[in-house]
Amino acid sequence: MTGPDGTRPPAGGQPPSFHTMWAELAPVGRHPASGGYRRHAWTGADADCRTWFQEQAEARGLTYETDRNGNQWAWLGDPLGEDAVVTGSHLDSVPDGGAFDGPLGVVSSFAALDELRRRGVGFRRPLAITNFGDEEGARFGLACVGSRLTAGQLTKEAAHRLRDGDGVSLPQAMEAAGYDPEAIGPDPERLARIGAFVELHVEQGRALDLTGDAVGIASAIWPHGRWRYDFHGEANHAGTTRLADRRDPMLTYAETVLAARREAELAGAVATFGKIAVEPNGVNAIPSLVRGWLDSRAADQATLDTVVAGIEAAAHEAAARQGVDLTVVRESFTPVVEFEHALRDELAKILGGRVPVLGTGAGHDAGILSASVPTAMLFVRNPTGVSHSPAEHAAEDDCVAGVLALADVLEGLACG
Ligand code: GLV
Ligand code: MN
Ligand code: MN
Repeated sequence: MTGPDGTRPPAGGQPPSFHTMWAELAPVGRHPASGGYRRHAWTGADADCRTWFQEQAEARGLTYETDRNGNQWAWLGDPLGEDAVVTGSHLDSVPDGGAFDGPLGVVSSFAALDELRRRGVGFRRPLAITNFGDEEGARFGLACVGSRLTAGQLTKEAAHRLRDGDGVSLPQAMEAAGYDPEAIGPDPERLARIGAFVELHVEQGRALDLTGDAVGIASAIWPHGRWRYDFHGEANHAGTTRLADRRDPMLTYAETVLAARREAELAGAVATFGKIAVEPNGVNAIPSLVRGWLDSRAADQATLDTVVAGIEAAAHEAAARQGVDLTVVRESFTPVVEFEHALRDELAKILGGRVPVLGTGAGHDAGILSASVPTAMLFVRNPTGVSHSPAEHAAEDDCVAGVLALADVLEGLACG
């Protein structure tokens, strides 16, 4: 039980420190060969992360709940109270992801709450820590499923149609993990009770390293999306089929990858084919199908539209030349996010106006929620800028600076 003012942890010792929490999470879902994380939605590793989150909530006497979309919440104060301040991030990962993308925000949130309790401040607004489900979309192809459902940006019907690479549907995966897939859907009442959402995240670039700052504030997220390219050709023998007789979709795919690079360079944008599926996937067979997923992002919508249209036109041109049938489907899209200026300015004021403000090409639950609630983000320096890789890193001193900055922000917003 928390104390009457909601500020006291349960009796029986200190909650785990940042260092201990980090060490506890470190082995969960880590692949022994790559050293990267494979914490994909509704898998065993995801369940272990969720158990860890619940234990952290309980160790601090917070009120624990999962919402209808499987997002986890740990409340200090009344979960049904108005004008709540919410912080948190996600615990899932991309395939062979780093330790920091997501977990840094969740661990820092618990550590920031511990810091506020040490300071002995009183809370005038409810405070919650969250773990949003399936942020990376590594398994079902769509990012930010938990926050999109909650914000009404993904319908239950569309979510039910999602399938993983083995053909397992999202509802089947949720059910196997002990969650009710029939309950999923928009949660406007919950969002209406949130007065501010602040997500701390490792920076996924080197801007802070270049300015020499440990912590920054987000200004905006680039518009971004995912497009599935299906190149249908003709399976045939790799040794006996004359080059002139082939309808080889791998060739068309390869030309499309080069076109993506060219269009992105011309526009100052980014375009990536990072995932591919080949059928029948035999060394000595010309493929019948190459399926590639394009991820493209740009600073503004018009530039992104130009890049995506340029890639698609080049792909169709190559397909026609090579006798390949091509279909392109947009699987997801997130428009540009400009974080609310009032909240952003409040963060800058709380942090003493000494903090750089920077944009990012990475997507976040904060970006999804920003359409419904005032939202802000803090970034923690990443000295190499590497992310979505086992090499992703942040120095412990910078992580501590992030915790203290988050504690300052939460104190400024929720206390006093
Ligand atoms: C999420 O990390 C994304 O930007 O794809
Ligand atoms: Mn990520
Ligand atoms: Mn992330």
